[in-house]
Amino acid sequence: MQSVLFVCLGNICRSPLAEALFLKHVNEQNLAYKFSADSAGTAAYHLGELADKRTRAMALKLSNLNLTHKARQFKTNDFLTFNFIVAMDKTNFQNIMKLKPENAKAKVLLMRHYDSMIQNEDAIPDPYYGNENDFEKVHHMLNDCTKNFLKELIG
Ligand code: 4NP
Repeated sequence: MQSVLFVCLGNICRSPLAEALFLKHVNEQNLAYKFSADSAGTAAYHLGELADKRTRAMALKLSNLNLTHKARQFKTNDFLTFNFIVAMDKTNFQNIMKLKPENAKAKVLLMRHYDSMIQNEDAIPDPYYGNENDFEKVHHMLNDCTKNFLKELIG
């Protein structure tokens, strides 16, 4: 079993969606016995909350997904329990690395590295202060990136 933790800032817009889309691709390929996923935020603003209403509405509309994850904060122990930690942007990446223990098991990656169109962008842009169009763009971007990431894990 390979476990993946998707991480953003608040754990209400980007990472819970990345988790759900990744698992959708996993299930479509009958690989649930091989991969598990979770998500977390580097900040603690929204602990225990469901994903942002706009993220959930777009997930239902575009991918027929019902997001049930409740926000939790990233913790040092996640380095020991996950195989992969996938950061939504470079700031998240740097904040994750600050907590890295010596005996870390997880490999830390950047989500945008798996974009089919542009691999050198740093960020899945944070849509929190944006409009519906921003949420839609993030959805498509994460659908593409999670699909490519799974492809690479399968090899
Ligand atoms: P996320 O988006 O990191 O994709 O969950 C955000 C959600 C909330 C805030 C910032 C970003 N906030 O400042 O509350």
